[in-house]
Amino acid sequence: MNILFMGPPGAGKGTQAEVIVKEFGIPHISTGDAFRLAIKQGTPIGLKAKEYMDQGLLVPDDVTIGIVEERLQQQDCREGFLLDGFPRTLSQAEALDGILDRLNSGLDHVINLKVDRNKLLARLTGRRLCKNCGATYHVVFNPPKQEGICDKCGGELYQRSDDNEESVGTRLDEYINKTAPLLTFYENKALLRQMDGEQDIDQVSQQIVSLLRG
Ligand code: AP5
Ligand code: ZN
Repeated sequence: MNILFMGPPGAGKGTQAEVIVKEFGIPHISTGDAFRLAIKQGTPIGLKAKEYMDQGLLVPDDVTIGIVEERLQQQDCREGFLLDGFPRTLSQAEALDGILDRLNSGLDHVINLKVDRNKLLARLTGRRLCKNCGATYHVVFNPPKQEGICDKCGGELYQRSDDNEESVGTRLDEYINKTAPLLTFYENKALLRQMDGEQDIDQVSQQIVSLLRG
């Protein structure tokens, strides 16, 4: 099953992806995670991406599309994948169609997690991530059992450098101007499914699983 998660920053894409990839045994392809890994490793792509990410701006299409194309060609994507955070511009969406065509593949479901803009700032500034396994928490909405420590692996939790008020404002503007128009693009292809992302994390997961099993 080939799935695409859409939704503004903080809508819960990464949180739900953790559940869905386990449930369906498919790889999770997150361009944000790929860039953060490249930054950690100090690669040329990482250095370039960092300039944009710290400000909350989208990384240029040519860099981003290349990463996804390479990943989708790998063997473990043949049985399905979950794309999270890509595409984010019309050029990326058109490029994705081309990549999947060449692989004789296509998208099965595009799920849009809907959350009101005024809830997103609190979600993002309170987010904490595990340095070791990448699990996502929230200081209020999904706290770990022990403060600062991952429940799953005991790793240390940290805050993303772009989860501050200024970068979040820019990320939300980028979403509205460049990414939200893609909802129409996928609606026109009859692939778009809307999901209320303001419910509890578990409720959202259950609804996504039943939609996908539908
Ligand atoms: P990326 O890493 O993709 O970040 P994002 O889209 O801004 O999305 P987030 O990771 O912030 O949010 P999410 O929806 O995954 O929310 P989460 O589940 O963590 O991109 C980062 C940057 O990389 C971009 O700004 C750009 O520079 C670059 N980039 C990446 N892809 C690109 C592309 N294709 N093109 C160009 N540039 C690109 O949840 C958020 C918080 O809310 C968590 O704390 C969570 O615990 C909590 N939460 C989740 N669900 C709920 C719920 N139901 N109720 C209450 N709290 C909840
Ligand atoms: Zn962990």
